[in-house]
Formats: sequence, structure tokens, C-alpha cells
Amino acid sequence: MDKLVIDGGVRLKGDVRVSGSKNSVLPILAATLLTDEPCVVRNVPGLRDTNTMVKILRSLGKNAELNKGVVSVVSSKNNSLPRWVADYKLVSTMRASFCVLGPLLGRFGEARVSLPGGCVIGIRPVDLHLKGIKALGAAISMDSGYVYAKAKQLKGSHVYLGGVYGSSVLATGNVMMAAVLAKGKTVIESAACEPEVEDLADFLIKMGAKIRGHGTPVIEVEGVKRLRGAEHSVIPDRIEAGTFMIAALVTRGDITIKNMVPRHMGALVDKLEEAGASLVKSADSMRVCYKKQLKPVNVSTLPYPGFPTDMQAQLMSLMSITPGISIITEKIYPDRFMHVAELNRMGALIQREGPHAIVSGVKKLSGAPVMASDLRASACLVLAGLAASGKTSISRIYHLERGYENIERKLEGLGAKIWREKE
Ligand code: UD1
Repeated sequence: MDKLVIDGGVRLKGDVRVSGSKNSVLPILAATLLTDEPCVVRNVPGLRDTNTMVKILRSLGKNAELNKGVVSVVSSKNNSLPRWVADYKLVSTMRASFCVLGPLLGRFGEARVSLPGGCVIGIRPVDLHLKGIKALGAAISMDSGYVYAKAKQLKGSHVYLGGVYGSSVLATGNVMMAAVLAKGKTVIESAACEPEVEDLADFLIKMGAKIRGHGTPVIEVEGVKRLRGAEHSVIPDRIEAGTFMIAALVTRGDITIKNMVPRHMGALVDKLEEAGASLVKSADSMRVCYKKQLKPVNVSTLPYPGFPTDMQAQLMSLMSITPGISIITEKIYPDRFMHVAELNRMGALIQREGPHAIVSGVKKLSGAPVMASDLRASACLVLAGLAASGKTSISRIYHLERGYENIERKLEGLGAKIWREKE
């Protein structure tokens, strides 16, 4: 296993290009199961998770390949595997694979998909996915850790998808993908409004689906008989872009982030400006320059357009070196605080109280050996390592490889002293 070593304290400067969105591309690749015709997906990030989804497509009878940012998917002619069974080995490595349920059910009238299980950031149930699929008329049973869903013909329906923690991104995607081939009209209320849901809907529309209201809490889907192949370019990754915005500020640097969509970043921009950061936005790039000492901010994570839970850990690394008290409240995954203990090992002063982290900003962090626990916690530790004095070594960086394409190369291009070592 590799670890990442960072010799911190360098001001990062220069331009960096954001890759395609991980959270967009995963359901979009799943949507290719809705047709037998060829599909081409572009701006695909080379990540562990995208490779996992490509493997899942292969296990479901597709010929799929990721080559230089492009995934081409065609149906293979002779496949002995049942085309509607998604195996535990693959689904357990990545929760997003559960979103093959909707397309498989819509296309084949049945689907057997492994339950994904929990993960380090919380329990992560799938009740909303199942509620939506059931509302479309599918019979659902569970056995041996799998969900089996069956429906001769799905029927359009009205379904409210709000859960205890608000809307669900993948449940909205899953139900939308099941509804596109259902008979009649489906209305999804309390749908997730995330740009990734919009991107998925845009791809489905290119395939011939009839969808309205995507990007709002009410999505309407008029079922069609069949979908065709389509080409699509995935939107830029807003979480990667946000991570580089914070990288500029924690290192007191000056970074221009290219191939991003500033209008997807409203809540983060608002918080950083409130903290006193200088941000210069254009249509597809942003310059983030550290000009003066920042002030602490309080923030609560919320579904889009609220502050993204996927940026909570990274913001915490910035607030941990911003003098004063910041309160960070996690409302999507109340246990998503694995990074707190690791930041404290680097000299941060953070106290967790239930879903709140009370951050007392310190002058400086000091490099230390730390352990990555999940994807965004790893990004937080990289940021902390960049800001700290001395060497930080981060073990278990395979988490980082799930969501950040070429992160070391990109940071190196900005002047960071960062390299890999064998554990
Ligand atoms: C997606 C993102 C993930 C992000 C999360 C929240 C992908 C591949 N992943 O995950 O990076 O952190 O959105 O923005 O897009 N919930 C239920 N029942 C369900 C489903 C979810 O109660 O059936 C709860 C979850 O436990 C959580 C909240 O709803 O508290 C939001 O989760 P959800 O939006 O579903 O997360 P994912 O779509 O899995």
C-alpha cells in the first residue's frame, strides 16, 4: 500500500484543471444499461470508482472501456451472465453501484442487486430508493444481502422522496432511471437538486427520455417505450474544484481553477467570501487568492444548493488555522467526523459535540503521520498537510484515489512538495 508524503508550508500558485465529476459519471454510466445501442461518455475522470462502474457494466453484459477520459459502452453479443444481477463483490466496494437497480428493472423487468451496506461516514440506508421503485409498481424482496425487484411493466406514479436528512441524490437518480421506461407519468417530489442529478437527466434526455423539472425539487418523467444510444460530456467535478479553492487559502497561495462551473459553487463561495477570501469568477474558471487573514465562519451542511457535506472536511482544515471559533454542523451524515481526531494530531483544536464540530483556530498545524478514513477526510488531511510545517504522511490513500484524478500531479504543478512512498 502507498502513503502520501507532503512537505508542507509551500504557497501554491498557478493554474489547475478540474476533471469530470465522479458523482455525475457513476449514475450516467449506469444509465447506459437502459439501451442496447452504443453510448459514449466523455470527460470521464480516471478514478478507482469509475473503473469499478466499468467493471459492473461488464459484469452486466456490456463491453465497456475507459480510455483517455472516454468510456464507450456497447452491448456484448454473447454473454452467459444474467444481465440483471449486480454482484456483492463489486457493489460492496462502492455504494453508487446500487444505482444500477433502476435501469436494470426498467430495461429487463427484474433486477437483483446486492445491498451496499454502511460505510465509515454512517449507516447510509437505501429505503428511499426502494420506496420510489415500489411506488412504480415493483415487488421487492430481500434475501442473502440482495434486493430483488420485479415488475412486468413499471407504471408511472407520484412519489415523495424526502427522507429524515432531506433529499437523496442517488435515490432520485435511481427512481428517475426506472421511470423513463415506465408506462405513463411519474412525479418525483422532494427530488435532489444537485447538478449531478441535472447532468444525469440531460444524458437521459439525449437518449430519448422525457424529463422536466430536473434541477428543481419536482421532477416529472413521461415514460417512453425505448431509449437510444447517446453521447455526453460529464460536468466538471465541483468538489474537486472546491478542494483546490481551499488549497489556495490554506497555503496562502494564488490558484486559478479552470474547467469548473462557478455557479455550482454558490454555498462555498458565499462562506469563503464571508471569511474574507478574494475570489474572481468567470464563466468557467475562478481565481482564489489569499490576501489577508481570514475570519472564522459557522456552517451547516445541507442538500444542494446548501453547503455540500462533501466539502465539510476540507473547510474544517481551513478553519482549523483561522483564528477564532468556527462551528461546523453536519446535517447530512451526523457521524462524518473521522477527520477531527487526525487534524487534532496535527495540532488543531477541534471538539466534537454530536453533529457539531467546534473549531478553535490555531496559528499553525505541524506535520504528522495521519490516516485517511474516507474520501473527503483524505482530502482534508492533504490540505492540512499542505498548510502544516514539516512532513505529513497520509496512509490509506486508496480512499483519495476513489475521487481525485492525478491529485499529486496537479498539486505538484502548483508547487507542492508531495510524493508517494511505500508503507
Ligand atoms: C451522494 C454522493 C455523495 C454525497 C451525498 C450527499 C454520489 C455517488 N455520492 O451520495 O458523495 O456525500 O450524495 O450529498 O453521488 N438517505 C436515506 N435513505 C436513502 C438514501 C439516503 O435516509 O434511501 C440519507 C443518507 O443516509 C444521507 C442523506 O439521505 O443522510 C443523503 O444521502 P444521499 O444523497 O442519498 O447520498 P448518496 O446519494 O448515497
